[in-house]
Amino acid sequence: MLQPARIVAPSLLAADLAKISEEVARAGRAGADWMHLDVMDGHFVDNITFGPELVRSVRDATTLFLDVHLMISRPDHFLPRFLAAGADMLTVHVEASHDVAETLRRIRQTGCQAGLALNPATPVESVLPFLDQIDLLLCMTVVPGFGGQAFMPDVLEKIRVVAATRAARGLGFHIEVDGGIDGVTAARCAAAGANVMVAGSSTFRAPDMALAIAQIRNA
Ligand code: DX5
Ligand code: ZN
Repeated sequence: MLQPARIVAPSLLAADLAKISEEVARAGRAGADWMHLDVMDGHFVDNITFGPELVRSVRDATTLFLDVHLMISRPDHFLPRFLAAGADMLTVHVEASHDVAETLRRIRQTGCQAGLALNPATPVESVLPFLDQIDLLLCMTVVPGFGGQAFMPDVLEKIRVVAATRAARGLGFHIEVDGGIDGVTAARCAAAGANVMVAGSSTFRAPDMALAIAQIRNA
């Protein structure tokens, strides 16, 4: 199975949230492939961001693919609202409180793509039972909750294991990394087998966003 193409997904968390539609447009002009939206509930992670209404506003503002990362304790409970808000990909955490297989099945049933995320400390074995049910596996490269943290290189080995398992099973899901990604760390993740690069600080806060995205794409 061929590795899927490189995708750069700027994270809205690092944008100027007082002018979201302008920031989304700026990311699109700078070459973003996807928009990454970080939903945090103050329970699963120690931070609060936004909910389905904001996802819907972004949906109305752009045709970019919306990659919605749910860092919430009960993704199953909120699923219908995020699906209705127009997400293209809904990624749920394996560590959250839900029936993971059932949540993934419900996401895909509506035509939305299903992603599964795991934290840096979570062993790769926890996601292996679900690999044939997903369109994307998100290997967190920081402890989730905040932008601007340092990349954790220990996760590279997990990415290699996931990529090897994907090849052995003939599967085609994306492997996404999120946290501390820039041109340098993206190269290391790509070499390990990742193809979707989420980047907040290094894109939205760069002096030249188009250059920053190009550096991640070509890393
Ligand atoms: C962290 C979020 C990330 C965050 C990445 O919990 O999941 O998407 O926005 O930010 P940077 O790229 O600044 O590390
Ligand atoms: Zn994220």
